[in-house]
Amino acid sequence: MAELIDGKALAAAMRAEMAEKVAALRAETGVTPGLGVVLVGDDPASKSYVTAKERALAEAGMVSRDIRLPAETTQAELLQVIAELNADPAVHGILVQLPLPKGLDEAEVIRAIAPEKDVDGFTPVNVGKMVIGEECYLPCTPHGVMKMLERAGVATKGKHAVVVGRSNIVGKPVAHLLAAKNGGNATVTLCHTATQDLAAFTRQADILVVASGRPNTVTGEMVKPGAVVIDVGVNRVPCAGTKTGYRLCGDCDFESVAAVASKLTPVPGGVGPMTITMLLENTHQAAVRAAKRQRS
Ligand code: GUN
Repeated sequence: MAELIDGKALAAAMRAEMAEKVAALRAETGVTPGLGVVLVGDDPASKSYVTAKERALAEAGMVSRDIRLPAETTQAELLQVIAELNADPAVHGILVQLPLPKGLDEAEVIRAIAPEKDVDGFTPVNVGKMVIGEECYLPCTPHGVMKMLERAGVATKGKHAVVVGRSNIVGKPVAHLLAAKNGGNATVTLCHTATQDLAAFTRQADILVVASGRPNTVTGEMVKPGAVVIDVGVNRVPCAGTKTGYRLCGDCDFESVAAVASKLTPVPGGVGPMTITMLLENTHQAAVRAAKRQRS
């Protein structure tokens, strides 16, 4: 049975350290890190992610400017909100929860975020810097995955890391971070929906990162014995026995993968809490940089 990598415990320890750093920054500079959190529409999963982010910010002593907009919001209205947050000196970071409702141009909205406030690391400027290895805001989920591997003592250098999923939010950036010389320094294979014989690739993985967005994408027989498996998926599947009527599961078949892997992240309690923790790190960093600019 695989050892579970406890993202919840790791995140709790890092958040406690973060609360101390936030208090110290406020005492030294008078600056309290502030994040503009924009949620458009009423997708229940997005709502719950945003609520969790806002709670974590408050617990770390940061301030969130919560902006809730109806699904009918126009592109121009949303761009106006971003422009106001870009100009607000009390807002050090901006987060626009994705996906946006149909009809809104996500790429244009992301491009409108000032790169120095882009704590999600989604703007072309930050993505470009990440790819060429310059200092930047790293996207939160891939950064959380790298931190979990590091803290769990998983050596990545020279290993074969296989990533399943090529989204801009997870798959593509995590593949880059795993391959980077000053990152994972691993040999990386990126699999996606057009990959033929997915299992032939996943079975070669020393480290398998699954971010397909689909339950049961990876089952035990697709995993090399002793591999480390990071399950990034968060799927809501109907479940009659629960209060909410659903339960959360990842992109892996937990039981069969746990029987084969040496380490595995659970869902919930794995990557999710680490994603939020990396958002806190980036927001703190944005506030530190703003405080420095203020003084110079
Ligand atoms: N939707 C799913 N993951 C993320 C994330 O990390 N940031 C934002 N803004 N939206 C998301």
